[in-house]
Amino acid sequence: MLALLPEAQARAFAPLSRFFVGAVVRGGSGRVYLGANIEIPGLPLSQTVHAEQAALANAYMAGEREVTDIAVTAAPCGHCRQFLQELSPDGEIRVLVKGARSVKLSQLLPAAFGPQDLGRKQGALPPMDNPVALVARTKDAVVLAAFESARKSYAPYTRAHSGVALLTVDRRIFTGSYIENAAFNPSLPPLQTALAGLLAAGATPSAIVRAALVEFDGAKVSQLSGVRSALSVLAPTARMKVASLF
Ligand code: THU
Ligand code: ZN
Repeated sequence: MLALLPEAQARAFAPLSRFFVGAVVRGGSGRVYLGANIEIPGLPLSQTVHAEQAALANAYMAGEREVTDIAVTAAPCGHCRQFLQELSPDGEIRVLVKGARSVKLSQLLPAAFGPQDLGRKQGALPPMDNPVALVARTKDAVVLAAFESARKSYAPYTRAHSGVALLTVDRRIFTGSYIENAAFNPSLPPLQTALAGLLAAGATPSAIVRAALVEFDGAKVSQLSGVRSALSVLAPTARMKVASLF
């Protein structure tokens, strides 16, 4: 995992800080997932994705039932520890920082606040299928991909399931599910999840030509303004479709 860190770090998109962070996650299947930090100039810093979140999001999208280890180029910040808590509520995930001994999350985040505090027995893993459907029939592959990611999104606190799909100029589709957090702020919006996959695959955000967002009409929390504003910075000519869930 440590050997893969430079490869993960090389995918960082950090025009604001020029501080490039890489992370590698190992899932229960034994497969590993790369992640890098993503910064979006011109928008609130809350739209940033940390490398740890990106690698965990990629493991989530691949359908990993659990995550066992994470390696990072720098110590995971408090926000990442909180995000990790949602994917490893028992605190058992091993955290390995370059040049230090590995420790369990429960050592890095003792007396944690987590899903249990909001009455949940389980965290974000394994990803579950939500009983949702599209209001309007469509054959649009990008909308259908966004729907699939909304179907497996994790939104136990608001029930505002949502998903995003991004089509790049070379006809690749990257999908992202919304991944909520018990502490709310570390929640990962669906566009950010999709961007994590896009960067891990070595693509660049400016290659996005089309996007789709799928969510409930009048959702308790909507992703629409966030997706619109981020796309207007990253891929200003990309067209966007919005489709509704019921
Ligand atoms: N960053 C991470 O990716 N992980 C951490 O835990 C620490 C901070 C990123 C966020 C931002 O893009 C940059 O490093 C400076 O904070
Ligand atoms: Zn962090």
